[in-house]
Amino acid sequence: MAMWDGLWVNARLATMVPGGDAYGAIDEGAIAVMGGRIVWVGPKREVPGPPGALARHVHDARGGWITPGLIDPHTHLVYGGDRAQEFEMRLEGATYEQIARAGGGILATVRATRAADDDTLFASASARLANLMAEGLTTVEIKSGYGLDLETELRMLRVARRLGDAYPVTVRTTFLGAHALPPDYAGRSGEYIDYVAETVLPEAHRLGLVDAVDCFCERIGFSAAETDRLFTAARALGLPVKLHAEQLSDQGGAALAARHGALSADHLEWLNEDGVRAMAAAGTVAVLLPGAFYVLRETRVPPIDLLRRHGVAIALASDCNPGSSPVMSLLLILSMACTLFRLTPAEALAGVTREAARALGLQATHGTLEVGKVADFVTWDIGRPAELAYHIGLNPRRQVVRAGEIVAA
Ligand code: NIG
Ligand code: FE
Repeated sequence: MAMWDGLWVNARLATMVPGGDAYGAIDEGAIAVMGGRIVWVGPKREVPGPPGALARHVHDARGGWITPGLIDPHTHLVYGGDRAQEFEMRLEGATYEQIARAGGGILATVRATRAADDDTLFASASARLANLMAEGLTTVEIKSGYGLDLETELRMLRVARRLGDAYPVTVRTTFLGAHALPPDYAGRSGEYIDYVAETVLPEAHRLGLVDAVDCFCERIGFSAAETDRLFTAARALGLPVKLHAEQLSDQGGAALAARHGALSADHLEWLNEDGVRAMAAAGTVAVLLPGAFYVLRETRVPPIDLLRRHGVAIALASDCNPGSSPVMSLLLILSMACTLFRLTPAEALAGVTREAARALGLQATHGTLEVGKVADFVTWDIGRPAELAYHIGLNPRRQVVRAGEIVAA
């Protein structure tokens, strides 16, 4: 038998594989990697021989917990500028919607992003990504959507791809050309959707820059009918869809997304039971974004119990963006999900591992510690997995393994 590249012993594993306890826990566990994949995982006593004879490198996890690498399935990581000034305006009473309608909000970031060159966008996104990666992030979704024209949308997607080439993290890109209506299309949102669906998206796809297509379905975004047209175009190109849905109002977006077989519907504070049913039937994941809920001081919590009752998978994401969620910490998101949304710590961890992988269509290769999956995992200095959601501002990460390689120790 060929030797394994690495074997971790003296570990407690939160495999996140369903069927066992909520963490799929293996108390005295071991995990082996070869060729970037997990080749063995189970109780230490069942390891088929002396570790030193089985693996080229044996690693002592010193009783720490190992979880799958963290996955952030919804970010707007690439953007120019910041919106700290709008934060101050909101604290003085302005709402997110009012600021958007006055030409600020997403459009303020569009101006800053168009004005920034690629290296500036890359450098600022790198700093944000470094914070996420410091907490064991191994996969991240990154959206476009602050260009709203062909050139800048393509630039954003290229910068996102470049982040994945430069750092040990898997990047999935999402095209969000329909994020806001650019001022030159004022009063002509139908024409803008045509431009996005017929010109920008096909070109981005032709260049191989798009893994999925998203849209902001909202009073200050695009209507359900416009979303439907964009999604029809996306699917004609063979691209999966996902949706910013039911964040500020109920537009029936989640049900529409589900009709298109969406990977996920995200935000969902205003989701109703019909939407939940449609998502359950389509296998569409609910991606909850407690960072935006917190920052916008929302009071309406997504319908967690309905999602649970109908068996809709729940994922969590940072929604890292300069307006509604300037958050670069998935551990903080776990804490917020438990405290603000009453998720259990196990649901929260599943939300940034197993279910986040599902939200990106990566469930066959990522998200759990299982033989055959990509060897992305994190060793933590914690006594129980709930600590990941419990501490605020403490990072107990020890080692990060990405595709079988130790990339942070
Ligand atoms: O997910 N809601 C739309 N998009 C982002 C916010 C983007 C922004 O404010 O810049 C979100 O909350
Ligand atoms: Fe978002």
